[in-house]
Amino acid sequence: MHPADSCVTLTCAQNTPAAAAGGPVLAIESSCDETACAILAPDGHVLGERLISQDAHAMFGGVVPEIAARAHLALLPALVRETLAEAGLAPRDLGAIAASTGPGLIGGLIVGANFSKGLALASGRPFIAVNHIEAHALSPRFPGASEEPVGFPYLLLLVSGGHCQCIAVEGVGKYRRLGGTIDDAAGEAFDKVAKMLGLGWPGGPALEKLAEEGNPQAVSLPRPLHGRPGCDFSFSGLKTAVARQIGEDVQTALPRREAADLAASFQEAVADVMADRAARALDMMTTPSALVVAGGVAANRVIRARLQEVAKAAGLPFAAPPLRLCTDNAVMVAWAAIETCRETARLGLPFPDDLKMRPRPRWPLAEMAARFGTA
Ligand code: KG4
Ligand code: ZN
Repeated sequence: MHPADSCVTLTCAQNTPAAAAGGPVLAIESSCDETACAILAPDGHVLGERLISQDAHAMFGGVVPEIAARAHLALLPALVRETLAEAGLAPRDLGAIAASTGPGLIGGLIVGANFSKGLALASGRPFIAVNHIEAHALSPRFPGASEEPVGFPYLLLLVSGGHCQCIAVEGVGKYRRLGGTIDDAAGEAFDKVAKMLGLGWPGGPALEKLAEEGNPQAVSLPRPLHGRPGCDFSFSGLKTAVARQIGEDVQTALPRREAADLAASFQEAVADVMADRAARALDMMTTPSALVVAGGVAANRVIRARLQEVAKAAGLPFAAPPLRLCTDNAVMVAWAAIETCRETARLGLPFPDDLKMRPRPRWPLAEMAARFGTA
């Protein structure tokens, strides 16, 4: 079945990007294990939103790309139909259709981007390819995401299961990667340590909960790259140190007190490293206006509090978008599309129309400037 069949009557309308600029934007997110759709008015007002966190991966202790792609394919038609119904809109009422087109798991990206392109073609609307990391990077600017509006340039610390990087966000399309992990992502480290402690998946929230009962000073653990120049991260040594502490008890029940102490000590080590790396990343920028943290790990209260101290010491506001905007979602994708449209309009460039763009498992942020002719 054509992906758009379930949602629209095919009319083969001509694509009229210029005429479409002012309408609502529908966006799809499918780069990992969240299947999501959102429709935003041009001012960012949410007209409709649906999100399903796929639970089929829990039994495997991590995201299985093939299962994720098939689930996106199965879930998307109804999800998009429901989102349109909530907004009270038909596809022809939309101004544009967007999708996370990379980076991410290629199967899911192909499903989401092709679904969106099918919908765009069928309804005669332009398609906007959104870089998933750019969507995270611009999410603190979504109206209401932060107490104070966040202006450029700001430091984004993006910490999730798949990402761990410091990005100087200097404008729409203007991103400088200051540093990132040289091995595991922060959330990945949380998930792996949680697994060693016999907690479920994803492990971050369970580990944080267990850590509340423990003493963060109980176990001496390394702080990889702490104090080194630059703002790269490394978590594999820390993870190995935790494994060594558990020793032969891996996968067997560690006494709860010991497990809690280890969880708290691990979390403390990650928080220390993040605070150090964020402070150094701020030093690498000339006039940062704020420190922003996003991604699933930003939900961690100990890490948030530590980063808040870093911002305070630098005399900067601290912003952490609400959790629903921090983790993968389609609102941030639609918002990034809106910011892109506004920037092209401001520069007098043609309205974006990316139908020919293929999904990309890797898509460096540095390439985003090309859209605005400033690469
Ligand atoms: O952004 P996200 O929902 O998905 C991507 O990975 O893109 O982030 C999920 C990650 C998982 O690794 C999860 O364990 C971690 O964020 N996480 C946490 C917490 N909540 C989620 N890590 C530490 N503390 C938490 N409270
Ligand atoms: Zn993400």
